[in-house]
Amino acid sequence: MSGGRIGVLTSGGDCSGMNATVRAVVRAALTAGLEVVGIRKGYRGLLEGHSELITTRTVSNILQRGGTVLQTARAKEMQTPEGLQRAVSQLQTLGIEGLVVIGGDGSLNGALALHRQGVRTIAIPASIDNDIPFTDMALGVDTALNNIVHAVDCLKDTASSHDRTFVVETMGRNCGYLAVASAIACGAEYAIIPELPFDLGAICRNLRQRFEEGRDNSILMVAEGAASAQVIADQIKDRIGFETRIMVLGHYQRGGSPSTFDRILGARFGVAAVDALLHGDSGKMLGLNCSELRLVELESVVAVGRRPIDPAMLGLARTLGI
Ligand code: F6P
Repeated sequence: MSGGRIGVLTSGGDCSGMNATVRAVVRAALTAGLEVVGIRKGYRGLLEGHSELITTRTVSNILQRGGTVLQTARAKEMQTPEGLQRAVSQLQTLGIEGLVVIGGDGSLNGALALHRQGVRTIAIPASIDNDIPFTDMALGVDTALNNIVHAVDCLKDTASSHDRTFVVETMGRNCGYLAVASAIACGAEYAIIPELPFDLGAICRNLRQRFEEGRDNSILMVAEGAASAQVIADQIKDRIGFETRIMVLGHYQRGGSPSTFDRILGARFGVAAVDALLHGDSGKMLGLNCSELRLVELESVVAVGRRPIDPAMLGLARTLGI
C-alpha cells in the first residue's frame, strides 16, 4: 500500500495518550505519502459520516493533551450486521484503504468485524483498565496510575493528620489491576479486587490492630468491579465503628496530560500501525511484550477476551503485606 488513504479513529472510553497516538499515525502516514482521514466520535461517527482530512497542522499541539481530539463514543450499532455493512460502505465511499482503530475491547471487536468484511485494519490497545490480552500495558494505564498515586499521596497527608482510614475506589470495570498496582505504588494497606475473594472481617481486625499500635492512617484501595467504596466504608462502620472517609476517583483517572511513558508508547504504537498497514497486515493488534512491539491476530485477542492480572504482581503485593 502506498500513495493511498488511511483512516484513524478513537473508540470506547477515552484515555490519555490517544492524542499522542493519533499524531504519530498522522505524521508517519504523511511521511509515507499517504493521506489520513480522521473519523470523529469513533464508529458512531463513521456511521454518521463525521470525518475530515487531517494534516500535520490538525495534530499540532495535541501530544500533551489528555482525552482525544477526534472524540470517541461507544457504538452498539457496530454489533449488528446492518451497522457493520454501513461502516464498510462508508469507508469505501471515503476511499479509505486501511483503518487504525485506537480503543478497548469493544473497539477491538469492531476492528475484527471490519477485517472479516475485507477492510484492512490495525488496532491499538487503549484502556485504563489494562485488561486487554497480549499487551503488557495498554495505552493510558500509566497515566491513570499516576493520577491515582497523586490523589492517594494527597489523601495520606490529610489521613495521617486525623488518624483516619480512607477507602479509595478505582475504575477498571471487572479488572483489579489499577487497584493492585496503585496499592503497591502508594503503600496502601489493602487492595480489594474482583479477581480474589476478600475477608472484610480480617481487614477490620487488622484495621483495629493498626489503630491500637498507633498507626496514623490506613488506605484501602477497592476496585469498582469488587465493591463500591461506600459499601466497604459502611461495613467497616457497622463492624468496628470506625468512621472512614471515601474517595471515588471515577473519571478523573482517565484524564490529564499523558505521562512520558504513554506519550512514547503512543508514538511507537502509531508509527508501527502505519508500518503494518504499509506492509499489508490486517486484522491485527499491536501489543507491548517485554518492551518490544509485536503484532497479534485480533482473532486471538478477542478469543481470549480479558487479560488476567499478572500473578507476579499479585505475589509482589502479598509479599509487601497488602
Ligand atoms: O473501560 C474504561 C472505563 O473507564 C472503566 O474503567 C469504567 O468502568 C468505564 O469505562 C466507565 O464508562 P463510562 O465512561 O461510560 O462511564
